[in-house]
Amino acid sequence: MSTNGKRVLIVDDDRQVRDVLHEIFLSNGYKCQLATDGREGLEVFQATRPPLIVTDVKMPVMDGLEFLRTVRGLDPDAAVIMLTGVGDLKIAIESLKVGADDFIIKPVNVDELLIAAERAVERRQLLIERREYQITLERRVEEATRDLALTLRELQDTYRATLEALGSALDTRDVGTEAHSRRVRGYALTIARAQGVPERDIKDIEHGVLLHDIGKIGIPDAILLKPGPLTPEEWIIMRTHPEVGRRLIERIPFLRGAVPIVYHHHEKWDGTGYPLGLRGEVIPLGARIFAVADAFDAMIFDRPYSKAVSYEAARKEIQRCAGTHFDPAVVEAFLSIPETVFEEISRRSLEP
Ligand SMILES: [Fe+2]
Repeated sequence: MSTNGKRVLIVDDDRQVRDVLHEIFLSNGYKCQLATDGREGLEVFQATRPPLIVTDVKMPVMDGLEFLRTVRGLDPDAAVIMLTGVGDLKIAIESLKVGADDFIIKPVNVDELLIAAERAVERRQLLIERREYQITLERRVEEATRDLALTLRELQDTYRATLEALGSALDTRDVGTEAHSRRVRGYALTIARAQGVPERDIKDIEHGVLLHDIGKIGIPDAILLKPGPLTPEEWIIMRTHPEVGRRLIERIPFLRGAVPIVYHHHEKWDGTGYPLGLRGEVIPLGARIFAVADAFDAMIFDRPYSKAVSYEAARKEIQRCAGTHFDPAVVEAFLSIPETVFEEISRRSLEP
């Protein structure tokens, strides 16, 4: 006879009943443990944790209801079937309230008892599985949330590092110094904040500044690196770099916000810039801010074909060009920033 892992604890003070129950369960594949009252039943339960208990109600020392309550307190999943006499319907109902799975009225009907036993064990199994599933589910959600946050952070770090590397690579090929784009980014963001640009737009300006000349990838070295002045034909090609840059990045969702600066960074306030010759506030604000930040950096640092001038001279020149090359409001914001702030930005741009 196979036990199939089926176990039952039988608790009854009546030896005859105990033996009958023992025989019924034994012949149906159950491994049985026997106890004569609640207290003894509790000792067996605590020692071996049987999945099913069949217990009488009226017993000396510890009755069935007290036994049931104690078992429930120890194990909310325990499957417990109560045995009651015909006249004990009130007790039977009371036992259901306390948490019995079922009750059987004596004398015991074998089929009824076995069906009740199976149902009680199934319910117990279901409760355990559901709780385990719940725990697994919560753990998975927690893990997935943590993984997602980590991936997002890594992705953002990667984006940032890629953009910085790209900006540096562009500078090295063109201006000859890789700290240039980091400085211009610092100036531009400082000016943007001084002008009250909301934080949610700052990242677009940052990306735009770092990538402003990305279109120069499409300009031949013979023109880009030419030692002397460009011919009119060469200038036409050189001036395509904002358009090339726009096409490069406008299809990348993450970089779309950078398009206004990439495409319009050579526009001038008075409409004499390129590629569209936009005038005044029609030029995107980021591009107007970039124009001041980039010109300032070009003046106070050596470029291949221009010598650095003093901070004061650069300030005066930018002030002079307000209303022609530059947006007067951006120039005003620029002039409100103390020199020490710009010095700090350029010092930090040299750090790795
Ligand atoms: Fe440019």
